[in-house]
Amino acid sequence: MVNDVITAREIDVSVRLGKLELAYPTLMGSGCYGSGEEYAPFVDLSKIGAVVLKSVTRQPRLGNPTPRLVHTPSGMLNAIGLQNPGIEWYLEHDVAKFAQRPCTIIGSVAGFSVDDYAYTCEKLAARNEIKAIELNISCPNVASEGETFACDPNLTANVVRAARATTDKTLIVKLSPNVTDIASIAREAERAGADALAVINTVRGMAIDVDMWRPRLGNVTGGLSGPAIRPIAVLAVYEVARAVKIPIVGQGGIETAGDALEFFLAGASAISIGTANFTDPRVPLRIVDELRAYLAKRGLRSLQQIVGKANVGFANPHQYEGDEG
Ligand SMILES: Cc1cc2nc3c(=O)[nH]c(=O)nc-3n(C[C@H](O)[C@H](O)[C@H](O)COP(=O)(O)O)c2cc1C
Repeated sequence: MVNDVITAREIDVSVRLGKLELAYPTLMGSGCYGSGEEYAPFVDLSKIGAVVLKSVTRQPRLGNPTPRLVHTPSGMLNAIGLQNPGIEWYLEHDVAKFAQRPCTIIGSVAGFSVDDYAYTCEKLAARNEIKAIELNISCPNVASEGETFACDPNLTANVVRAARATTDKTLIVKLSPNVTDIASIAREAERAGADALAVINTVRGMAIDVDMWRPRLGNVTGGLSGPAIRPIAVLAVYEVARAVKIPIVGQGGIETAGDALEFFLAGASAISIGTANFTDPRVPLRIVDELRAYLAKRGLRSLQQIVGKANVGFANPHQYEGDEG
């Protein structure tokens, strides 16, 4: 019947992450999009879900020695070292500008102790311009011999609990793939009060200059991003989706709607796009258009209807209620 034909424009691509409602399921990855300002001439920012800001720390950081970026096959190694002006300067000089952005702004917090995270999270979350907080827990904890928060379930729980106590805004915890059992870390983050999980941050890597006989990054090691890590990220989302009930923001090498669909079908409710923006700023908008066309072709009305459909053990209850598929 003609009435049953769904046009792509009618498809609901919105997503809810805790208290945060986004009209589009596309977040721009922390450290890859600034606050959107540089992209505004090329992209209608009102058509992206949200920008996740570069991670900010309690103290200013100069970052790592250069070189900080190295191209690798289908990917990129970075070792920026969390360069940022520190939370006080950031609040005074940067945050007010974010009110003018036509998209949702999510703050990202990093730290080197539980206290650091709680302090920075509380200060950033208190600002109206910031609609949610992402916790970047891929940092070493100075109090436990430099062990990374995201690599230990107890450290993860401690830092999430401390951040949770400082704000009622949506708290997204960003997990690292550099662990043996990401599902156990995800469970602890959920139990400690996370509203959503970002899966995954970069994968540890290294490249060597064979003429100079030395590592190509000033920091020696770095984090790999881009299509090279996509299968690792899809598996991580698949495993985390079986372990928790909170929504997942899938990320790692997404460049096309086909890539994005893998993440949704594995159990992600939203996606984040990082490295792909460096080569083509229109990727996020194109992905949404193509997702709509994909869903319309199959007679589906909402993106959330397909979340977790390739994941038999999927635990997320946020699925579309009228789901027949
Ligand atoms: C240059 C660069 C800087 C990044 N900085 C941060 C950061 O400050 N905080 C963070 O949580 N993730 C950071 N990331 C990780 C991205 O947000 C994203 O999770 C990761 O790159 C995987 O997605 P992608 O393959 O689409 O880039 C950075 C990535 C890149 C490439």
